[in-house]
Amino acid sequence: MSVHAPEASAPSTAVGADTGRYDGASMDAIQQHYDLSNDFYALWLGSSMAYSCALWDGPDDDLDTAQLRKFDYLIEGARATGARRVLDVGCGWGGLMDRLVGTHRVGHAVGLTLSDQQADWVRRHSPAAVEVHVQNWLDHTPDEPYDAIISIGAFEHFARDGLTRPARIAAYREFFARARGWLPAGARIAVQTNVKGNNVRMDRQTVRDLLFIMQRVFTESEIPDLAEVIQGSERIFDVVSVRNDPDHYARTCAEWLAGLRRHRDQALALVGEEQVADYERYLSSTVGHFERRHLGLARLVFEAI
Ligand SMILES: C[S@@+](CC[C@H](N)C(=O)[O-])C[C@H]1O[C@@H](n2cnc3c(N)ncnc32)[C@H](O)[C@@H]1O
Repeated sequence: MSVHAPEASAPSTAVGADTGRYDGASMDAIQQHYDLSNDFYALWLGSSMAYSCALWDGPDDDLDTAQLRKFDYLIEGARATGARRVLDVGCGWGGLMDRLVGTHRVGHAVGLTLSDQQADWVRRHSPAAVEVHVQNWLDHTPDEPYDAIISIGAFEHFARDGLTRPARIAAYREFFARARGWLPAGARIAVQTNVKGNNVRMDRQTVRDLLFIMQRVFTESEIPDLAEVIQGSERIFDVVSVRNDPDHYARTCAEWLAGLRRHRDQALALVGEEQVADYERYLSSTVGHFERRHLGLARLVFEAI
């Protein structure tokens, strides 16, 4: 299913433009992955339930601490501490929103996900100041602006696989145009996303593993090219900062894989042999993709013009 803007009617109080169309992964494709089983993901993601690259600090660091440090880095980048309203686009199981309201004194956090299971988890685990919607960002029409926006690990789904370069840039541009409509001038958006590692030639096994991930794990999705994301933001947002942390994602995936192997019997009981084998292949090959720089991990901060 793809969602087209003209079919989405915006209430008259809505903030933001109603300009384009959505060219990213469908809700079916997203649910195929993220609705697999909350209990399965809880076995290996750690207590933050963050399903995105952590921010590590030294060899003795642990996954949960590194995930919270990542949340804090992006929250500070977006200048969201003490804000009244913050939007989390692609909120997963709600860890960032819990951190916003629990530690950073944010009055109200709104999360968007396309996964029913994630939304169900957030409703059961997060405090009252956290609100979650199973909604595509294209259909989001807030009644009042946000003070900051954060999006972690969701851009990977915003341009469907097989699009041309101009179509991918247009897809990211549509997102930035919407986001700009929900923010006052000078407000910030912090984005974390995997990006293509364009500087290293891939070997055949890497190509096979990436195709496997695109065909069986994250369908209808394509890893963004950093230049295309930035081009999509031009004349809407200024770039404040960019950092690339591929080694941080290699370490995060290695931790996830170790967690999955520690709990393999429970995982088998929850999702079966085929899924567990697929996740083991996806996580173990991804460690190598980041180590060899076939993939990068971008943490970006933009400021609304
Ligand atoms: C890899 S998960 C990251 C979750 C969370 N940000 C974290 O760091 O743990 C990607 C998230 O993006 C959401 N997502 C993907 N495309 C979306 C869209 N078009 N609108 C809203 N959410 C979307 C998925 O439902 C999922 O929650």
